[in-house]
Amino acid sequence: MKLHLLRATLYGLIAVLVLGLGAWAVLLRQVPQRASNDPAWVFNHGSIGNEAAQGLPYWIWRVMPVVFADLLPGKGRGYAEFGMMWERGAPVPVGFAQKTLGVIPRVSPNCAFCHQGSYRLAPEDPAQLVSAGAGTRVNVQAYVRFLAAAGDDARFTASHMMPVINRIADLPLWERLLYRYLLIPATRRALHEQAVRFAWTEPRPDWGPGRIDPFNPVKFANLGLPDDGTIGNSDMMPLWSLNDVEAMGEYAVHWDGLLTDIHETVVAGAIGDGMSYQSWPLAEGAIAQMEDFIRHNAPPPSPFRVGLPTDDPFALDAAEIARGKALFAETCAECHARGGARLRTVIPVDEVGTDRHRLDMWTAEATARYTAYEDRHDWGFDSFQKTDGYVATELTGLWLRGPYLHNGSVPSLAAMLVRPEDRTKKFWRGSDLVDTEAGGFVSTQGADPYRQTTLYDTSLPGNGNQGHAYGTDLPSPDKAALLAFLKTF
Ligand code: HEC
Ligand code: HEC
Repeated sequence: MKLHLLRATLYGLIAVLVLGLGAWAVLLRQVPQRASNDPAWVFNHGSIGNEAAQGLPYWIWRVMPVVFADLLPGKGRGYAEFGMMWERGAPVPVGFAQKTLGVIPRVSPNCAFCHQGSYRLAPEDPAQLVSAGAGTRVNVQAYVRFLAAAGDDARFTASHMMPVINRIADLPLWERLLYRYLLIPATRRALHEQAVRFAWTEPRPDWGPGRIDPFNPVKFANLGLPDDGTIGNSDMMPLWSLNDVEAMGEYAVHWDGLLTDIHETVVAGAIGDGMSYQSWPLAEGAIAQMEDFIRHNAPPPSPFRVGLPTDDPFALDAAEIARGKALFAETCAECHARGGARLRTVIPVDEVGTDRHRLDMWTAEATARYTAYEDRHDWGFDSFQKTDGYVATELTGLWLRGPYLHNGSVPSLAAMLVRPEDRTKKFWRGSDLVDTEAGGFVSTQGADPYRQTTLYDTSLPGNGNQGHAYGTDLPSPDKAALLAFLKTF
């Protein structure tokens, strides 16, 4: 016992000494990530320079689902409960970067946390990763809540966590000391502060899998705006072939078109996720590689096609496709096809008629403040704007974009062609199992036993499924033909 005490004091002294040598060099000095020429790897695992703001020490992050298994939304699958996906052999899931600050590897989310799609064609299939797709499974809010709950838990102490770390890692003494005396207490405080920063989300409707409130965190944390009660919940967008968008000359990005420049959107994305003027010089290279990746990266081809045996659930009929194509040209192409006069323009909300909460979340004041945002570096923003509607985007990879509309309020492609008042009022989201009938992903209770799905209620504020009634008055055979065509995108 005495020996134990003596050892503890000694460890404490060493820790203090180490601190004396320079906490900055030990804990915060930016160490470059290993360079990679694989653009998909950089997109999925590259650092966007947010480690100082969000990076959790690797071993703490690693053992949290073990120590706090009871705080996970489901049982026994660790971070997969939040829709995270591991590639074979990778130390962290897709959408996380591992990067060393000082001497300690940190784990923090990057763009692919949200911008990563996946699909399964049959329930037992392993999920196929879709680079930079819309992260339909990923439940960012549940992850944030888990971190908050763990940080508030009495077991967030060295005596509970170190034995679990020591069981799986053979750390040198100095690193164990750092974890015990510095990193565990500091992380606990940081998680608590993060929970306070996100407290405004609690009275609002849940984001649920595949959605976040993208700009309210920036408004409240970076731009110094007060909580205005707005609800900005919106579906993740896929990032595909953005060079084609830029080639249009004039275009708007984000659901409400609040930016009109792709490069600025990328930099603003990184700032929103915790990158700062201090980390920018080191992060810039990887962020440029990521931007290049999303300019060229395209979705995988649709599995729905002509020429399959008629009993194949993915089989389509050539005559029906031709009919659907003609209907699309008549009723949809103006807004959604290459060359369409209104593609990538903002359609006034009074015209498209969809839920306006997301639109109202972004304000003229926020536009002015983000444009002037410097934080010790001139970011050169000049393309933020306040609009009055939602952007009509291209529909590439439509089979991977469900649920549909900016708030993800319409479960399937078939439901997009149903009159708004007759659309499904409650459904389950979070699956990546392709719905072969309706198009999109399965959305009924229990339809996907392998995913943590949550109930989506269209009656909650921000969740409305009204509007976008295009094509809903077509006779049923025409709807079937149009649906078949939409499945091929
Ligand atoms: C926490 C989730 C999340 C992270 C992390 C994230 N995004 Fe996004 N991104 C979204 C959502 C949600 C939208 C749609 C938001 C809206 O307009 O309502 C979006 C929209 C975009 C768009 C507009 C796409 C279009 O077609 O108009 C671009 C470009 C983009 N993000 C790039 C990035 C980049 C680059 C990063 C990393 C630096 C990043 N995002 C990080 C969730 C995220
Ligand atoms: C007048 C322009 C306009 C026309 C015509 C139009 N749309 Fe749209 N569409 C939009 C806008 C704007 C949005 C985004 C609205 C929102 O999310 O609130 C949208 C969204 C969508 C989405 C959701 C995309 C996603 O990623 O979630 C689909 C699918 C879609 N439209 C299909 C169609 C089809 C099919 C037709 C023809 C029957 C059609 N649209 C006609 C403007 C239009």
